[in-house]
This record gives sequence, C-alpha cells and structure tokens, in this order.
Amino acid sequence: MADGAAAPFPLARQARLAVLASGRGSNLASLLAAFPASGEEPLAAVCLVLSDRAQAPALARGVAAGVAAEHVAFGHDRAAFERAADALLREHAIDLVCLAGFMRILSAGFVAAWAGRLLNIHPSLLPAFPGLHGQRQALAAGVHESGCSVHFVDAGVDTGRVIVQRRVPVRDDDDEESLAARILEHEHLAYPEAVRLVLRGEVTP
Ligand code: GRF
Repeated sequence: MADGAAAPFPLARQARLAVLASGRGSNLASLLAAFPASGEEPLAAVCLVLSDRAQAPALARGVAAGVAAEHVAFGHDRAAFERAADALLREHAIDLVCLAGFMRILSAGFVAAWAGRLLNIHPSLLPAFPGLHGQRQALAAGVHESGCSVHFVDAGVDTGRVIVQRRVPVRDDDDEESLAARILEHEHLAYPEAVRLVLRGEVTP
C-alpha cells in the first residue's frame, strides 16, 4: 500500500488524480472538465478512472476523455479488490483519489494507507444523513435545507473532515429525484473546489 505518513500537499508539480466511480459518473465529468486529462490545468489532471463495475458509464466517460479507465472486480473479496486498486493507483503515480459515486466501503487499512489523499462526495450536509440515500433521508426528516459535502475519507462511513459544503433549499413539492437533481448541480461545483483546496494545502484532514 502507499505510504500514508507522507504530508502530501501542496506539491511542487501538477497533481495526478484518480476518480473511483461505480455508476453514471457525472461528478467524474465535472472533475474532468476542471482538471482535464490533457494537462492544461497546472494544478491537476485526471489520470485514472477506476470502477468496480465493468458496465459503469463512468468508465466510458473516462475512455472518451482519453484517460486510463480500469475495471477491477469487487466480487466477494474486498482485500483482493483493494490490492489491485492500490497497485493501479501506484502504477499511475496517483497523488489524490476522488471517490465519486463509488458504492463500496473501503477497509480501514486502505483508508489509512491513503489518509489525507482520499476524498468523497456525499449528497447531504454532513454530519446529517450519512450512508445511502442522503436525499431520501433529508425528505423523510422534513428539513428545509440540504446540500452536498466533499470530505476526507476516514474509517467511518461519511465521517471524515468536511472540506466544502454547498446548501440547497428543500421545496415542499420535492421528491427524491427533484432534490437529487438540485443537489447534483452543486456537487459538480463543490468537488473541483474541494480538490483545489486540498491540493493547495489549504485544508488538511
Ligand atoms: C452523487 O449524488 C454522489 O454524491 C453520490 O453518488 C452520486 C454519484 O453520481 N455519492 P455520479 O455518478 O457522479 O453522477
């Protein structure tokens, strides 16, 4: 595994990003727009897309963007997945890993190895409504405001230090889909902003 002890940011060079995604990959698209694989953004470039699902649209987006796009099967063996993922991250000299709709829980060992270099985005104002279906939880709780959070990943589920939050209103006639769509627009702004803050060393775990 990578050396979790290194104090990583800021780097004196362009950072190499990996995005781990299980599904549609709209946050991947926003990261690719902000940090193109071609390298024209001096701060960072997306260099690897990794998915646990071979059919994930996110992988196709990576291919279309000219990024290395790798499927690693999760199966029933998380340790094997994590060994393979870690090897790919090191092979591609990745500096910062962005989970973006990655639907698997990573082990405490993997998280420790990438401490400070592993981010996630979640569709709620953490610490409210962690885990699955953040938007559904917000509607069930009857809150008038929700949003999204980008946070460092620690050994808990959606418990690491928050880097950026963006707030949206919850409307009386919202359903899960309408609220998710409103939050998603803000996710696409929040993730690149959080990556910039971390890479500049302005927010640390
Ligand atoms: C987003 O709502 C994200 O917050 C959550 O999963 C969804 C992924 O969407 N973790 P996409 O695959 O990035 O479009």
